[in-house]
Amino acid sequence: MNHILIIYHSQKGHTEKLVDACYQGILLESNVQVRMKKALDATLEDILWANGVVIATPEYFGNMSGAVKDFFDKTYYPARGQNVNIPYVLIISCDNDGSGAERNVQSIASSYTLRKSLETLNVKTNAFEEGLEQAKVLGQTFAAGLDMGIF
Ligand SMILES: Cc1cc2nc3c(=O)[nH]c(=O)nc-3n(C[C@H](O)[C@H](O)[C@H](O)COP(=O)(O)O)c2cc1C
Repeated sequence: MNHILIIYHSQKGHTEKLVDACYQGILLESNVQVRMKKALDATLEDILWANGVVIATPEYFGNMSGAVKDFFDKTYYPARGQNVNIPYVLIISCDNDGSGAERNVQSIASSYTLRKSLETLNVKTNAFEEGLEQAKVLGQTFAAGLDMGIF
């Protein structure tokens, strides 16, 4: 049984809707359990439980959200030595850019020893409906890839 953790932050609901769509995509696959956690509530135990993680964040001032950064900050030292060597996929919600948030997450994820598995989904608010469908496909692809052991 695969365990996928979804960690996210959302103020206005865009990221949360993308996460919900991703969750629906994951559930199209069998042999998977999912935990969906707001980043401020997620713990070390959650990441140790998972063998794949979806990280979803709005871009704020060219960065990932403070809440998602807080998750990395508070679990980084405790996670070291625990061999958190699992694949991740990233969803970014933004108005017009998203590249800064993507760079931030990628840089921290590699220190954390999370492995990038699929291309980042960057959803701009003016293409949101399309983004929902892409998030669903991403979730299913991630779960299927995990199950096939290709990440
Ligand atoms: C404080 C703040 C800073 C933002 N900075 C950026 C930014 O640097 N680049 C961008 O494309 N969008 C930026 N946005 C827009 C949000 O990323 C975008 O509206 C996102 O979809 C919000 O996600 P949410 O609805 O889940 O809260 C910013 C929004 C806020 C509130």
